[in-house]
Amino acid sequence: MSIKKIGILTGGGDCPGLNAVIRAVTKYSELHNIEVIGFKDGWKGLLDKRYIDLNHKSVSGLIHKGGTILGTSRTNALKDQETIDLVINNFSHLSLEALVVIGGEGTLTVGSEFHKLGLPIIGVPKTIDNDISKTDFTFGFDTAVSIATEAIDRLHTTAESHNRIMIVEVMGRHAGWIATYAGIAGGADAVLIPEFPLSVEEITKIIEKRKAAGKLFSIIVVAEGAPIVEQQKQSFVHKKIKDDFGRPRLGGIAEQLAQKLEEKLNIECRVTVLGYVQRGGTPSAADRVLATRYGHYAVDLVLKKKFGQMVCLNGTKLSSVNLKEATTSLKKVNKEIWDVAKTFFN
Ligand code: F6P
Repeated sequence: MSIKKIGILTGGGDCPGLNAVIRAVTKYSELHNIEVIGFKDGWKGLLDKRYIDLNHKSVSGLIHKGGTILGTSRTNALKDQETIDLVINNFSHLSLEALVVIGGEGTLTVGSEFHKLGLPIIGVPKTIDNDISKTDFTFGFDTAVSIATEAIDRLHTTAESHNRIMIVEVMGRHAGWIATYAGIAGGADAVLIPEFPLSVEEITKIIEKRKAAGKLFSIIVVAEGAPIVEQQKQSFVHKKIKDDFGRPRLGGIAEQLAQKLEEKLNIECRVTVLGYVQRGGTPSAADRVLATRYGHYAVDLVLKKKFGQMVCLNGTKLSSVNLKEATTSLKKVNKEIWDVAKTFFN
């Protein structure tokens, strides 16, 4: 029996390229006479039965648009038995035969659990943080790196003019992919990430060495999730507000580091927190292509009824991997790329 109707949702933090996936899934499904509905605000829309019909017309012109036309939220639909039953019942009342779940760690983990409970789920990995396992890249990452790199380029000229240390704080809750890539691309003089955190002492030495060589300014990139090893092992929490998955809001490491460096070096430091600029706006061409390929491949999995899988990219090839496997651990910055980055800290 061929598939007649599927649902799609976007959960977690938004990211450039989500609309390109929605567009690809809808248009390619339509070619196979599959009806598509899009749930509003992630799992919340499935819980409340809030959705819109998606078709050629409603997704037309979406490829370059950032954010998600479906809306998103960090809703944990596995909260209790009541929410679990609601999702399963609504899914069946709507006569859905598959659900394409586009999300990061939290959203995909929920998808994996619902697959275990019998729902035909296909996962599509998204996050600017690029920390989903079993896939080389998630869409949104390339755009975020470009924005961070442009910011570093701009900070360079003002840093040099004033002989200052510029510290730029980028996103990266558990993994320092954006900081590392943007640091390499922007020629940062030091990068601080959760996986290989430099101590204040090490950063001080780099800056002193630069000063001795006549370089009176420096650019430091820090991932929001990195610690200052002399002070605390955990990430800096900006607000003690937690989301549905118990994760606190991060932020503040750049400010802390600036204070420490000013004390030690007697050089003026300035802080730039890039924040949501990294996540907003139009996706890069590479992210549009990756998102479109992911959406297309997700529909191929639906047609083959290969459920409980997540679309992934290995090298240049798309394939799929067991959702459970993909959500067991996060993909951290590896030593190979870190060794490249730190070679240029001077
Ligand atoms: O999209 C992932 C991420 O960018 C993390 O790096 C960051 O901690 C988080 O989202 C913040 O998002 P929000 O404020 O929307 O919860």
